[in-house]
Amino acid sequence: MATMNPFEQQRPVEGIKKIIAISSGKGGVGKSTVSVNLAAALAKRGLKVGLLDADIYGPSLPRMSGTLHQKVELDENKRLIPLERFRVKLMSIGYLVDEDLAVVWRGPMLFKAMDQFFRDVAWGELDYLLIDLPPGTGDIQLSVAQKVPVAGAVAVSTPQNVALTDVKKAIDMWAQVRVPVLGVVENMSWFIPPGSTERVQLFPKGQIDSWLDERGIAKLGEVPFNPNVGLGAEAGIPVVESDSKSPEAEAFNAIASRLIETVPLT
Ligand SMILES: Nc1ncnc2c1ncn2[C@@H]1O[C@H](COP(=O)(O)OP(=O)(O)OP(=O)(O)O)[C@@H](O)[C@H]1O
Ligand SMILES: [Mg+2]
Repeated sequence: MATMNPFEQQRPVEGIKKIIAISSGKGGVGKSTVSVNLAAALAKRGLKVGLLDADIYGPSLPRMSGTLHQKVELDENKRLIPLERFRVKLMSIGYLVDEDLAVVWRGPMLFKAMDQFFRDVAWGELDYLLIDLPPGTGDIQLSVAQKVPVAGAVAVSTPQNVALTDVKKAIDMWAQVRVPVLGVVENMSWFIPPGSTERVQLFPKGQIDSWLDERGIAKLGEVPFNPNVGLGAEAGIPVVESDSKSPEAEAFNAIASRLIETVPLT
């Protein structure tokens, strides 16, 4: 019997030039926040950008993009028409089913859903499709890597060593499925309290920088903690849109520039 090649079903998505996965081994470090802000930052430069919320169990995109409770429609070819905000095309399981129903999805249904997100969505022409992944190194990550050619993965982390352990897991996973790691975004790197100029380390600075240096993995940028970022997520307006001159927005813009350099379109 021939050995099954897990990448056999991998096919490019017509019209999409580069697919970039945003991942982390750990939950709650800011993958979705980074995804939404990077997508908006790329779109601001006139690039054609899509953002796929691949978090089937806990979709954040509807809330973070101000599209909560919206549903998608079908085009004449029965393909799902993505929503659009901040010039970014958006797709999430939250636009298809009630969010509390999605959590019961397992195994084959989940793989099918991922397939539909790539094949049955009218993405049109896109320069970059960003994929906001759920935390960890599970079936969804694997499924994405098997179904489509991922140009590279970004790992999001917070600065402390407890988080570094999970970054390592994420980076190992991408190596196993032959997806290049573009680098690490450190989120909530520090906090400058109002009226102060001093950086407060919300999480202790661990060995992340030396660990990345030793392996030749890039640090794509550091995003400070700012309650405005969290408020923007609640209100559905990413900080690159609501406060484009803030240090946080500038950090996201700089990371977007690094991404374009690291994954050029040609
Ligand atoms: N730089 C930041 N400053 C302030 N709050 C932030 C920052 N980054 C993220 N947050 C907040 O932290 C919380 C977690 O962020 P987010 O949902 O993006 O993480 P996640 O890694 O996608 O989580 P999950 O693993 O559940 O998918 C959110 O409430 C978000 O608004
Ligand atoms: Mg998330």
